[in-house]
Amino acid sequence: MTVVRGAFVQTRPKFGRNEENIESAIRLVSRVDADLYVFPELCNSGYAFTSKRECLALSESLNNGNSVEQLLSYSEKRKCAVVAGLAEKEGQRTFNSSVVIERGKILGTYRKMHLFFREKLWFSASNRGFRTFFLEKIGCKIGVLICFDWFFPEASRKLALEGAEVICHPSDLVMSGKAQVGMMARAFENRVFVITANRVGFENRGPKDRFRFTGMSQIISPDMDKLAAAGKTETAAKVAQMNLDLAKKKYVTPLNNILSDRRPSYY
Ligand code: ACM
Repeated sequence: MTVVRGAFVQTRPKFGRNEENIESAIRLVSRVDADLYVFPELCNSGYAFTSKRECLALSESLNNGNSVEQLLSYSEKRKCAVVAGLAEKEGQRTFNSSVVIERGKILGTYRKMHLFFREKLWFSASNRGFRTFFLEKIGCKIGVLICFDWFFPEASRKLALEGAEVICHPSDLVMSGKAQVGMMARAFENRVFVITANRVGFENRGPKDRFRFTGMSQIISPDMDKLAAAGKTETAAKVAQMNLDLAKKKYVTPLNNILSDRRPSYY
């Protein structure tokens, strides 16, 4: 039996204060002991950009930017894995990305496939597809989605087909409670754990750029049980034990395997 302690951190970033945001997220997350920590989407920069220029200025290299360096050093010190949503800069392009780190080493990045609303004006959409990562020290395969990706059930299914046992879901959700319900279904129909790390707070950067973030971060089991949950406005870090055996069992009756019973030629 492999039991992994998964955690989310629910933060309240201040727009444009990258260094302070990462420091306070790490301070918060340090309060709980876990093997795998999930941070919200764009947890370095905040969310509501108003120009491409601003987005470029606040995005960071995922090779050696300050935010990634802080997270690398946290994961090395705590001997843990981290999945964190960061504004990424590569040359003159920016991506809404997540970095996957294990014990001081970057395993890779995932760039958001389904950009939400005005994100399309600042970020390039990924053309790399969905990715899974094997966390060697923990013995667990994870997949990553970012926020609005939840709207597309194919994305979770693809990760499950590639063997993900846990879907890590950094988010800046704005439709109160909808994704939380949706991701319970994604956990159940794919028999995977889901860790949604959402943020709280309000950003008002002009008439088109006003967002209230909905909190309610959660950890859901393959049986659709809520193993940990946060409130709508609090900052918090919470942890839950995830027994990976549950995610390996894809039978829902002795005759029904949810992956091999699919009829993709008819979909
Ligand atoms: C979202 O994708 N941040 C709603």
